Amino acid sequence: MTLAADVREGLSRSPKELAPKYFYDERGSELFDLITTLPEYYPTRCERAILNRHAPEIVAGMEELVELGSGTASKTRALLYAMAGAGSLRRYVPFDVDGSVVALCEEELTELYPGLAVHGVVGDFEHDLGRIPAGERRLFAFLGGTIGNFHAAERADFLTRVRALMDSTDRLVLGTDLVKDRATLEAAYDDGEGVTAEFNRNVLRVLNEALGADFDPDSFDHVARWVEESSRIEMLLRSVREQTISIPGADLEVSFAEGEEMRTEISTKFTPARIEAELGEAGLALEGLLTDPDGLFAVSVATPQQHPHR
Ligand code: SAH
Ligand code: TRP
Repeated sequence: MTLAADVREGLSRSPKELAPKYFYDERGSELFDLITTLPEYYPTRCERAILNRHAPEIVAGMEELVELGSGTASKTRALLYAMAGAGSLRRYVPFDVDGSVVALCEEELTELYPGLAVHGVVGDFEHDLGRIPAGERRLFAFLGGTIGNFHAAERADFLTRVRALMDSTDRLVLGTDLVKDRATLEAAYDDGEGVTAEFNRNVLRVLNEALGADFDPDSFDHVARWVEESSRIEMLLRSVREQTISIPGADLEVSFAEGEEMRTEISTKFTPARIEAELGEAGLALEGLLTDPDGLFAVSVATPQQHPHR
């Protein structure tokens, strides 16, 4: 779907909703990078510790790194370093919907590893996975807990499509955030400095720019809420007053009541059993599940099953 169609569809629902991929324009990617450095945002710190510690076993035998939703690839460097150290690194394929981070990855990693083939793909998980170049002994990496930003049906579909791309010699490394207490979870999505709030509101700026909308970002409060029944954090924007927004590019006028909430993102949290089950459903066999010492975050390693079960 196009941005205009997505917005029209999402804002016509009740409750209103926006598709999360629109967070990541250049400013959005910069704000997200800032989030990953915040004390409250433990996922990046934990995942980095796991990758740094276990990189050699994760990359063993792999010659290529295909990174889905790469962002600026700050944690991925441990994997590339380990592959380079083993003398097996041939190619890096960063895949992201934001062209600015793909360009940055291409630039920085070519400089860091002269002779490394960096093949960036600017695309959308939904339509463009087919543009990933074919290969063997590829490590597919999907980090940052980004899979938690999909709904259950989207996760199943995504994992199945990634599995279909994989050769029997390929491997998947998947980062997932784990279920934990409400206070820790909610703080990670509502930091004291207000960076996450700015990131959430950035989606309104994207709509202003791309569709000529007249959102006043300051007229929406940032809300992050742990919804235990759904095992997920929900990010919302709450209208501080009654207001009507015009979105010419989507041919839409939309009214918000005072206090009305619009969902902008979900971030699902997993148990190890659920990760293994969802991988299995997609024809991926769990080889290992690594966690940080506090058990906050998980990095799973999986391989294509020889006979995907039905
Ligand atoms: N892997 C990085 C970044 C995670 S943020 C990390 O772990 O820190 C999620 C990334 O996925 C962003 O860079 C965003 O641009 C990208 N992304 C989000 N939705 C996408 C989509 N539908 N298609 C492709 N990339 C997407
Ligand atoms: N993949 C990240 C996560 O679920 C994305 C993210 C972090 C995010 N903080 C956010 C998305 C705030 C929206 C708003 O943790």
